[in-house]
Amino acid sequence: MKYSVVIPAAGSGTRMKANQNKLFLDLMGKPLIAHTLKLFEEDAWCSKIILAGKPDEFQIFNEIIKKEGFCKIEALVAGGSDRQESVKKGLDSLKGDEIVLIHDGARPLVDIKLVHQLVMETEKTGAAILAVPLKDTIKKAYNKKIVETIDREALWAAQTPQGFKLSTIKAAHEKAVLSGVKGTDDASLLEALGQAVTIVHGDYRNIKVTTPEDLVVAEHFITGRET
Ligand code: CTP
Ligand code: MG
Repeated sequence: MKYSVVIPAAGSGTRMKANQNKLFLDLMGKPLIAHTLKLFEEDAWCSKIILAGKPDEFQIFNEIIKKEGFCKIEALVAGGSDRQESVKKGLDSLKGDEIVLIHDGARPLVDIKLVHQLVMETEKTGAAILAVPLKDTIKKAYNKKIVETIDREALWAAQTPQGFKLSTIKAAHEKAVLSGVKGTDDASLLEALGQAVTIVHGDYRNIKVTTPEDLVVAEHFITGRET
């Protein structure tokens, strides 16, 4: 089975408070984004990688690509002002009706076995995401005053990769632009159109490196994976 992957990497990493794109921070001797790219570079099912970055960081991305010897990166495209726009720009550079995965540059820990399960589910159903059941008790609150405890039974935390037929997700992104729908992931754009998306049970280790303590956790899991 084959797939392409779009990797949005054009963020600023404001919650990391590192004064630079968090994807360039060191993780076990190389930039965080190099770990994410390596997973797909080494996966035989992955035919090409589309990376979305900020144009003024293209040089840094190109240096990383060269240093690591990555050869599946077919395009480095200019990202947009939010994640959704960056993904759309990446999708725009792909043609055909292959399976496309969308994967956050900030998730360097996804297990390739789960990626393959996701690709197989996408092949079957047309749209699938990795997600994990929530562990915490979830409160809804305004101004820190709780109004409700939400039944956790049906709640999942969405992760990436998320897998789609290319034409389906391209159409959803185009419609979202026209209707002004915004989502922090790609499945939500299909959901807004009433289209079905299936969950593949993911792994709690597939964290999105977002705040400083996540780097410590990522380092721990990468050490475990490499030994
Ligand atoms: N992303 C992107 N283009 C943007 C914003 C985000 O490609 N305009 C990417 C990020 O680089 C990241 C992924 O989307 O790989 C998930 O976003 P997030 O974790 O929110 O990263 P940042 O937006 O960089 O971080 P923050 O929200 O803390 O600023
Ligand atoms: Mg963000």
